[in-house]
Amino acid sequence: MITLQTIEALRQQVSQWRKEGYRIALVPTMGNLHTGHLQLVDRARQLADRVVVSIFVNPMQFGQGEDFDSYPRTLEEDSRKLEQHHTDLLFAPTVAEVYPRPQAEQTVVKVPGLSNILCGQTRPGHFAGVATVVCKLFNMVLPDVAVFGEKDFQQLLVIRRMVEDLQIPVEIVGMATVREADGLAMSSRNGYLTPEQRAKAPVIYRLLTETAEKLQAGERDYKSLEKLACGRLENAGLRPDYFQIRRARDLQVPENGEGELVMLAAAYLGGARLIDNKTVTIK
Ligand code: PAJ
Repeated sequence: MITLQTIEALRQQVSQWRKEGYRIALVPTMGNLHTGHLQLVDRARQLADRVVVSIFVNPMQFGQGEDFDSYPRTLEEDSRKLEQHHTDLLFAPTVAEVYPRPQAEQTVVKVPGLSNILCGQTRPGHFAGVATVVCKLFNMVLPDVAVFGEKDFQQLLVIRRMVEDLQIPVEIVGMATVREADGLAMSSRNGYLTPEQRAKAPVIYRLLTETAEKLQAGERDYKSLEKLACGRLENAGLRPDYFQIRRARDLQVPENGEGELVMLAAAYLGGARLIDNKTVTIK
């Protein structure tokens, strides 16, 4: 595995591969890699001849008072894991490499509509930060295909929309959420939980599953299902940010007769903000 920190070196290597006719996949991450990330890498391996993984804790997607400074940075361990999963190139740039200009002068990619609801409402500017850095990474690597997790459902829709709107020639592949044995979605932020909090965390996925069953059984009073789930999160000792039932394709409030719905949840537990989701097809 080659590890590079500069855009120039990255471009040289990738263009060499392109000349050799290789198909290139990109897996963007912020590091502290777990099995969820590594499954994206394995998928990328199947989809392309050369796999590039980026590790970059992107300051632009963190708000004031969020965990940018304390976000776990474990490059050596990550690097070992990526090698085991047959990554060809690890791109780990510095903040100055990605953002040579002051934040206020940075060109911003905004994806309206999808970005100011749900997580975007609680974290203003977050999805502009995500879209901007992912757009930059696409321009640096020029991948044929890029792999993302459905764990960040709203993020995946924002990226798909950006690619469509800006006509970026990359195929976006989404991967199912990888979970711990008790249902908790794997996340770098689970490491913030104390053992006691960790024991409470699976309630989020339990509620998503229970709500899916109710929808499938014919319940259609979305508002009261959402309220019930929020109450149950509170009772379990979490502080819900939202629990919402939305249309899967655009995250709008569903009307009657929608086929594909998604339930999205975000809740605070100790020092962590946990998110999860589950799609459900109703007839
Ligand atoms: P990060 O949280 O490190 O996640 C990197 C990728 O791994 C994302 O596509 C995310 O959806 C996926 N992922 C995380 N947990 C997962 C799980 N349990 N199962 C399956 N996939 C999972 O998401 C980001 O970084 C950043 O916002 C980024 C896209 C890199 C832009 O900075």
